[in-house]
Amino acid sequence: MIELAERHTFKLPAQCRSLIELKSSDDVEQLVFEEPYYLLGEGSNTLFVDNFYGTVICNRLLGVCIEEQEDSYLITAAAGENWHNFVADLRVRSIDGLENLALIPGSVGAAPVQNVGAYGVEVATFIEQVTAWDIKEKRWVSMNREACQFAYRDSVFKQNPGRWLITSVVFRLPKDWQPVTHYAPLNQLQGHVSAQKIFDTVVEVRQKKLPDPKVIPNAGSFFKNPVITKAQLDELLQKWPDMVYFPVADNQVKVAAGWLIEHLGLKSAFVGDAAVNPHQALVLINKAQATGSDITQLALKIMKQVVDASGIMLEPEVRLVGQHGLVQLAVKK
Ligand code: EPU
Repeated sequence: MIELAERHTFKLPAQCRSLIELKSSDDVEQLVFEEPYYLLGEGSNTLFVDNFYGTVICNRLLGVCIEEQEDSYLITAAAGENWHNFVADLRVRSIDGLENLALIPGSVGAAPVQNVGAYGVEVATFIEQVTAWDIKEKRWVSMNREACQFAYRDSVFKQNPGRWLITSVVFRLPKDWQPVTHYAPLNQLQGHVSAQKIFDTVVEVRQKKLPDPKVIPNAGSFFKNPVITKAQLDELLQKWPDMVYFPVADNQVKVAAGWLIEHLGLKSAFVGDAAVNPHQALVLINKAQATGSDITQLALKIMKQVVDASGIMLEPEVRLVGQHGLVQLAVKK
């Protein structure tokens, strides 16, 4: 068995039966995908909550190619590139658009899977194409933005885990750059706002609010912000007039799950060494020796209290891997 603690940012003790490091896309066609297997990038959105009796395939494909076109840059990045280094490198070259997504942990290949987003920007906006090996049909595919079926923290890749091994992502960044500053605290910036200023501010805010996974193991937001109807919202606002929410569509709003967790007094909740992050309650942390069972129990405790108080069923944003593959968490209303 092979230890996985250092291969996921939550650092839970867990092992897998075998592990493959994929370093060249030439090797993809020869890979044998024997069930169960799990496709891993930098492990910043996956928690191994138990030993996994299967194969973990780590994507380590590297390389970035920038093509300058008349109105935009077309950038092809291999899936194993580190996301923040990629964003920072583009900033140095004055190729702008991804600066709001600075410091998001993980790899380039993971970005389209959960359509990473932060401070008013979702990566889907800039994705031109995703190249992947279709494991089921044993062929290469190039998927355009529509085929990727992007939604809030969601995509066709997330909906069909294990179907495609993403090898590279093509981004189109228009030269006519527009700053996105409507999301707090970027909306406090005064005067002309440069891409560098946004990049620096996002890095500063993330460093202040979100624990550095290298210091305090975590996997970013543990739950998605739930989307509810306006009717549900009106009911909740009668009880909690200062509840934080954001409009998403005509009849829908996204509730700040961090607010719900904090408001229900769960900021100090813990099970063993698994705890709620005191600076941002949507993030759960491993204080030192947390186990998969600790974190699962803590998540279920939060889900139960939130559903009992609000009727809202929180859904994990991270992926939990157990003995035979992905596991779902569920509580009764
Ligand atoms: N809030 C609280 N208490 C908390 C946490 C949040 O009251 O403990 C309230 C704040 O008042 C704030 C609102 O909730 O007004 C939203 O909080 P924040 O701006 O920190 O963002 P979030 O909704 O908790 C989302 C993303 C983050 C992303 C930030 C910034 C999800 C699941 N998470 O968090 O993404 O960095 O917005 O754009 O959508 C991630 O996906 O791993 C991640 C960190």
